[in-house]
Amino acid sequence: MTATLTLHSDFHVGDVDPRIFSGFLEHLGRAVYEGVYEPDSPLSDENGFRRDVIDAIKRMKMPLMRYPGGNFVSAYDWKDGIGPKSLRPSRPDFAWKSKESNEFGTDEFMHWCEHAETSPMMAVNLGTKGTIDAAALLEYCNLPTGTYWADKRAENGHPEPYGAKVWCLGNEMDGPWQAGHVPAEEYARRAHQAAIMMKGLDPTIELVACGSSGRMMATYLNYDRVTLEYCWKDVDYVSAHRYSNNSKDDTAWYLAEGTEIERVIEDYAGLFDYVRGLKRSTKRVYLSFDEWNVWYKNMEMDGKWSNAPHLIEEVYNLEDALVCAQYLSAFIRRADVVKIACLAQIVNVIAPILTTKNGLLIQSIFYPIELMATHARGKSLRLSFADVPTYKAGLRGEVSVLDASATLAEDGTLALFLVNRSQTDALPLTFQLEDFKATGVLGVDSLSGTDPKAANSWENPNELSVEKGRASITESGSVCVTVPALGFTCLRVKTETR
Ligand code: AHR
Repeated sequence: MTATLTLHSDFHVGDVDPRIFSGFLEHLGRAVYEGVYEPDSPLSDENGFRRDVIDAIKRMKMPLMRYPGGNFVSAYDWKDGIGPKSLRPSRPDFAWKSKESNEFGTDEFMHWCEHAETSPMMAVNLGTKGTIDAAALLEYCNLPTGTYWADKRAENGHPEPYGAKVWCLGNEMDGPWQAGHVPAEEYARRAHQAAIMMKGLDPTIELVACGSSGRMMATYLNYDRVTLEYCWKDVDYVSAHRYSNNSKDDTAWYLAEGTEIERVIEDYAGLFDYVRGLKRSTKRVYLSFDEWNVWYKNMEMDGKWSNAPHLIEEVYNLEDALVCAQYLSAFIRRADVVKIACLAQIVNVIAPILTTKNGLLIQSIFYPIELMATHARGKSLRLSFADVPTYKAGLRGEVSVLDASATLAEDGTLALFLVNRSQTDALPLTFQLEDFKATGVLGVDSLSGTDPKAANSWENPNELSVEKGRASITESGSVCVTVPALGFTCLRVKTETR
């Protein structure tokens, strides 16, 4: 039986911020070295940047790239990573027990961003450093020449300011694993002081305060509340992080992960409303979901003090890809709350692409990310699931088999992003458009299979890939499509108003 979903172009939650498709590059394992930067690879350009990696990143259309961490940032001295490479010190990296050569630093990152058609989202060290260092980095990046650090940037080959717009005030400062982690009250003061100075130097920047590191933390939401109450006027976003797992090896349960992701966003929406009410404020603070992904199979986090060790090189399968699509759909559905989100991470380390010196492998999660980043445009339309069948998702109870989001662009392109959680049954759907009608199918792309554990590998790089599908339009302008079992479908149709 076909389930019918109804859409109305006025029934929406606002515009989707393209920055929800951003990425995250950390000095961790082989993300920077041997990932984006590998001078001795035949696939690199004259800067040492991997051309194939840049091409793959461009396909995912990431407006922002968070850098340089992550846990790494909390013991990092950015001054080690500027100036002549021969003078840069090699340091032990506290976070990942690795050796940091500092060959790749702020200037290389900015340069790489230009090549990868993305913009920097810089994180400052509020763990072992503080306000003055954060302000100096901002001066280095954003101020016109004429002061010490801005002049250093010019000396290092870049007279024009980089103009980095979004800045993270530390990383996961509630985590006992974090260098310099502190209770919320102390972090709030650090963040406030850094914010005042940074916005004082460049009032055009936007700031992200650390929220707690995840829902599993005892500090969840309370760390965020304390920080937000103290820094309400100073910050524009609070960060949320989540890594999904199927450690129980229960696919039915795992595929309902979208319900949890949405709950996290709802938690933050409630918190933002609460603090806004408390402050009698009209200001809005938004969510920066700046670390999200699946991560549980490879937990190798000890670099044994070597350069570019193989750490957390997760291999992704079909069920992981379906979970990643649900993250992005949740961000789209809550476009009113989530304005920034960063896939953690982009290459080799919990990433959609893996590299060797001579090659690049596209993993399953790459496909929904590429399709959604390419086609989600305009308003996020509300969807009602009234008619859709449910299934038993273990401890998550009775859950809809469908996870979905919809966007309507100004040119009338309607894009639908659909995950069928059923492992056995295809899902026929009809989308009834109330005040507009479909006039033509622009494209249907699906990723699906019969084995949730199927994955691309170096031996079999095309085990999973996107296949073209079909959709039809009824006389009354409704759209009909069938989402394959264990499948993700991205459907685009042309529409016009009735
Ligand atoms: O992305 C890997 C790590 O996960 C990040 O460094 C940290 O912020 C999080 O705990």
